[in-house]
Amino acid sequence: MNQPRHFLDLDRLNGALLGRLLERASAYKRDRTALRAEPGAGHGRTLAMLFEKPSTRTRVSFEVAMNELGGRALTLDRQGTQMGRGESLADTARVLSRYADVALLRTGSHTQLEEFAGHSEIPVINGLTDRSHPCQVMADLLTLRDRFGSLEGRHVAWVGDGNNVANSWIHAAMQLGVRLRVACPPSRQPPAELVSRAVDSGFVDLVDEPAAAARGASAVVTDTWKSMAADPSVDGLADQQAVFRPFQVDQSLMDAAAPGAVFMHCLPAYRGEEVTAEVIDGPDSAVWDEAENRLHVQKAILEWCLAGS
Ligand code: CP
Ligand code: NVA
Repeated sequence: MNQPRHFLDLDRLNGALLGRLLERASAYKRDRTALRAEPGAGHGRTLAMLFEKPSTRTRVSFEVAMNELGGRALTLDRQGTQMGRGESLADTARVLSRYADVALLRTGSHTQLEEFAGHSEIPVINGLTDRSHPCQVMADLLTLRDRFGSLEGRHVAWVGDGNNVANSWIHAAMQLGVRLRVACPPSRQPPAELVSRAVDSGFVDLVDEPAAAARGASAVVTDTWKSMAADPSVDGLADQQAVFRPFQVDQSLMDAAAPGAVFMHCLPAYRGEEVTAEVIDGPDSAVWDEAENRLHVQKAILEWCLAGS
């Protein structure tokens, strides 16, 4: 049996493949109606999605993507399955492998994602963990490509929490040659091991000030200050407003970026915290395109996963 094509993290897939997936996502975006009419890559196939955390975009975009590819999607959660009564993730992965063709897991623990994938005979997609959110960053990359053309050498600023989405941005920068500048509060830096690899790659720099990250950037990217997996009592977030306040994306920070720069956010957003309403609802905001692009990249990811089995 072939090894299943898991989509777990951008730093585990090579840059050429990520480029091909973005190209394919672009085709799906351009020809949405035409490609929908063809027998799709998902014809007769089933996606089983297991959500241990809430979701709007990931859940809906994957379900619609699978439908438009000619397949179907099931949404499961812990309480509605025997996992709620203690059946292990490993056994659940083994069983889902006998029914479905591809699986997606959203969980607060990356270790659990690895465990699930390790026991799965079908491809597993990372639908977000505490450590990464690769499908989101693929949509962000498509958004940047649509706006500016090439990604290589383009400057992007990450400002705010050094969280799961930041980590996937760092992975993407290393794989695709994007020049990423990261500004996070000292207590909320991305993991040291990743930072050291990233800085060694020459594509990622850590800076102290949001304005230093934004200078010359084509995109300023941020995310919520209260991620689902974060525990305020242990993650240094107890006084989060004070810690994060200097990292809010406001119009003056956008003005420090390159002319024509866009604001990006994976959503859900909290106006008045990580971003002002003026910026997210203003003319430079690309957040609705990012959300739409989730649909197009999910198709490319599903197609790649399914083509391996
Ligand atoms: N951006 C994102 O993953 O959104 P959901 O949590 O709604 O899936
Ligand atoms: N960093 C956020 C992303 C939500 C899509 C979280 O993990 O909650």
